[in-house]
Amino acid sequence: MSENFSMVAPHSKRPVNEDKIFAASRQAKEAIEKYGFENVINSTVGALLDDNGKLLVLPTVIKVLKNLPPEEIAAYAPIAGLPEYLETVKTAAFRECMPEGYIEAIATPGGSGAIRHTIWNYSEMGDYILTSDWYWGPYKTIAEEHGRKITTYTFFDENKNFNIKSFREKLNQLLKIQDRVVILLNSPAHNPTGFSLEISEWEEVINILKNFAKNKDKKIILFSDIAYIDFAGEKNKSRQFMKLFGNLPENILTIVSFSMSKGYTLYGMRSGAMICITSNKSIAEEFKNVGQFSNRGVWSNGTRSAMKILAEIFKNSELLSKVETERNVLKKMLNERAQSFVNEAKKIGLDICPYKSGFFITIPCNNPELVSEKLKKDNIFVVPLQKGIRFAVCSVSKEKCLKAPLKLLNAIKNI
Ligand SMILES: Cc1ncc(COP(=O)(O)O)c(C=O)c1O
Repeated sequence: MSENFSMVAPHSKRPVNEDKIFAASRQAKEAIEKYGFENVINSTVGALLDDNGKLLVLPTVIKVLKNLPPEEIAAYAPIAGLPEYLETVKTAAFRECMPEGYIEAIATPGGSGAIRHTIWNYSEMGDYILTSDWYWGPYKTIAEEHGRKITTYTFFDENKNFNIKSFREKLNQLLKIQDRVVILLNSPAHNPTGFSLEISEWEEVINILKNFAKNKDKKIILFSDIAYIDFAGEKNKSRQFMKLFGNLPENILTIVSFSMSKGYTLYGMRSGAMICITSNKSIAEEFKNVGQFSNRGVWSNGTRSAMKILAEIFKNSELLSKVETERNVLKKMLNERAQSFVNEAKKIGLDICPYKSGFFITIPCNNPELVSEKLKKDNIFVVPLQKGIRFAVCSVSKEKCLKAPLKLLNAIKNI
């Protein structure tokens, strides 16, 4: 039997690569077994772990889950999502920064589901999807799974600010060859860099979109990925930019992607939503219709219990305040770890991407694969990216975050 024989349809033939994050994570676990947890730095995990490597959860969220009646756990949810959830996600996403316009929501399995539906429903087969040159790998996977391609602009300028010029140029190029462009913009607390756009940078982005939208033949879809927003400073300050999504021309559609994975520590329960903001009522209705159709056509409905949890929390101000207090403890821990890393990097001259908040810090370097191989010999496990390495401060103790920069600097220097 020939080894090249394949049963897979041509469009689904993909290179067989073990997922880099899971591969590094597996090797880290092997090293921990061999050398002991205290002697290994496993910075591959994209979830909040305590100093001993155990998953951190918000106890009140889990308590609400455990108190749900069995039928709220076992029953189907409506295809679009539980109506009370669809109202609650708007509050949870925008808090006091609700933009003006027609706003509709559709439940999706996490933010990933929102990315999928946006790409599928708002770009055409073969189109380019625009994002920054540092981006979360699954953007590409999801685009390619649906016959689209990712293209990028340069995220940072020479002063490590948002590279507005590159953003404008790239969008301009794309709008010359496509009549519609989906833009995936992950801020605040961007994965993998920890960068967040300032409000003035957001204003510039929106002005650029408005300018391009003067050509009514063009359609611009701004996908605002806020997966880490609940770890990006004060809740209303970090959401200020969302006000800018109101009153835009009808050929700019903004879709905010809400996720319960990080902010509610319910990673595995697969619950999120896509929320549209538009100045045209029928565009909002169309959004709801296509989202519902896609839900039915891809995964049917979402996880009812997770939806119910969010609704219960926001119905009861005491519960909400408990969740926020518990989350603040995690936020403080994350901040301390990240600041330890950033300060140490600065002290020893390790160049990092501009970090403001979030789960990850990224170190630009040549030959990231080789650097990460070298680090493994030192029992440090990182995720190699195309142009650097990702260090997950979310899953590493403060003590190890202090130790790591020097080891990283040495590994990079010795390549
Ligand atoms: C940048 C970014 N967007 C979206 C997601 C989606 O996560 P989920 O589908 O679990 O909500 C993640 C998760 O890691 C992420 O890092």
